[in-house]
Amino acid sequence: MSKHNRILIKGGKIVNEDFSVISDVYIEDGKIIEIGHNLQIPSEVRVIDATDKLVIPGGIDTHTHMELEFMGTKAVDDFHIGTKAALAGGTTMILDFVIPQRGSSLLQAYDRWRTMADPKVCCDYSLHVAVTWWSDTVQSEMATLAQKKGVNSFKMFMAYKDVFMLRDDELYAAFSMCKEIGAIAQVHAENGDLIAEGARKMLSLGITGPEGHELCRPEEVEAEATQRAITIAHAVNCPLYVVHVMSKSAAKVVSNARRAGRVVFGEPIAAGLGTDGTHYWHKDWAHAASFVMGPPLRPDPSTPGYLMDLLANDDLSVTGTDNCTFSRCQKALGKDDFTKIPNGVNGVEDRMSVIWEKGVHSGKMDENRFVAVTSTNAAKIFNIYPQKGCIARGSDADVVIWDPRLTRKISAETHHQAVDYNIFEGMECHGVPVMTISQGKVVYEDGTLHVTAGAGRFIPRQPFSQFVYKRVDQRDQVGKPCAVVRKPYEGEVIVI
Ligand code: URP
Ligand code: ZN
Ligand code: ZN
Repeated sequence: MSKHNRILIKGGKIVNEDFSVISDVYIEDGKIIEIGHNLQIPSEVRVIDATDKLVIPGGIDTHTHMELEFMGTKAVDDFHIGTKAALAGGTTMILDFVIPQRGSSLLQAYDRWRTMADPKVCCDYSLHVAVTWWSDTVQSEMATLAQKKGVNSFKMFMAYKDVFMLRDDELYAAFSMCKEIGAIAQVHAENGDLIAEGARKMLSLGITGPEGHELCRPEEVEAEATQRAITIAHAVNCPLYVVHVMSKSAAKVVSNARRAGRVVFGEPIAAGLGTDGTHYWHKDWAHAASFVMGPPLRPDPSTPGYLMDLLANDDLSVTGTDNCTFSRCQKALGKDDFTKIPNGVNGVEDRMSVIWEKGVHSGKMDENRFVAVTSTNAAKIFNIYPQKGCIARGSDADVVIWDPRLTRKISAETHHQAVDYNIFEGMECHGVPVMTISQGKVVYEDGTLHVTAGAGRFIPRQPFSQFVYKRVDQRDQVGKPCAVVRKPYEGEVIVI
């Protein structure tokens, strides 16, 4: 065994979701072996001084689209560049989306994603699968994916009419299947019919620029779909996860549902927490277009702060990025028609710093909540806790040494992503990952990456996550409606 397999992190403050403590962490062969003081460890060890720094679980980005073929082009961050950038930003695992074409096999699409990702990923990853159409085959493939392929989450689109969108009866069927196989139903919640009508209207008014993207799908379009998804999920007692919650209205819907006892989780993303939709009105077309994503960022400038408040207080649960990056020349496919601008923004590298700056440095949340919303809650919801999401004996050694006092300025000039702009350009962030350890290896240190393509592993996820399903199962036991016992009606019945 060599020094590369053994690391002692000394003197740092371990931060988990539920406590912080100054302690040493001993890592061997990719696992956290021991935590404490004066640990008895072998001599051949690399010692890392973490005095005055935080030792946190590596970030888990719940929502990425590496090298996604979408809207006539392909996202420029592939699984190699995207996971390198993730590691440089303190994220040690991503959950990407398999998105099959309408009418095609979910299993074949899953295999395609594995073939794309496995040789390229530099950090661990897992896969959600999108249900973009409905049939008996889709239903049985969902079961196979859950039972044999390590998938416990399925995303249904309520937008992208005629491309990925499901009708309400199909949502009902898909949610029912999720429930049966112990998966979490995820929704892209926007009313696709209203978007299609709104887009036509904007174009007929001569609005062809990026502002049209927001104007054709105002907040209520997102809020309505969010409420509808929650209603349908409740009807089948299926846990629901709303991806990319972008507006105050939709966030309120999620928050109210949680207060009404629904098993629903809301995922704001770095973009929505760190910037806003006023950029769609920017005079420079390319600048405005770089912010185009669905659901859109909102022009109400109080939105990011509001979403952060809800995230701090557990109305919203977990954070992703929806990293789906298209360079300027790709966005330009929609230079004369906003409906043709490929939807997607960056975030995988900057999520941790943006949330630290806007959440912790601002005083809205503490360091423990930061760990909860950037890592632990994702691990719990998607059933990989405590393998991931905590600094604990036996957990994977995905660890970040975080300096809350250092600052860095986000810029496309210095980021590790392939995309040629950054929606957080110029943002000064407190909170810098000074070292990232993935599977017990130092993969990022003092600004330099030491990664190997394909070193990341596919992490299978078992169905029936206890964190999600305990309440659901109990409700099934005690909440069954039952018929009233009565004497049969013996009176007169009219003859028709
Ligand atoms: O604009 C977005 N969000 N692009 C990626 C696809 C999706 O809807 O998540
Ligand atoms: Zn989406
Ligand atoms: Zn997405």
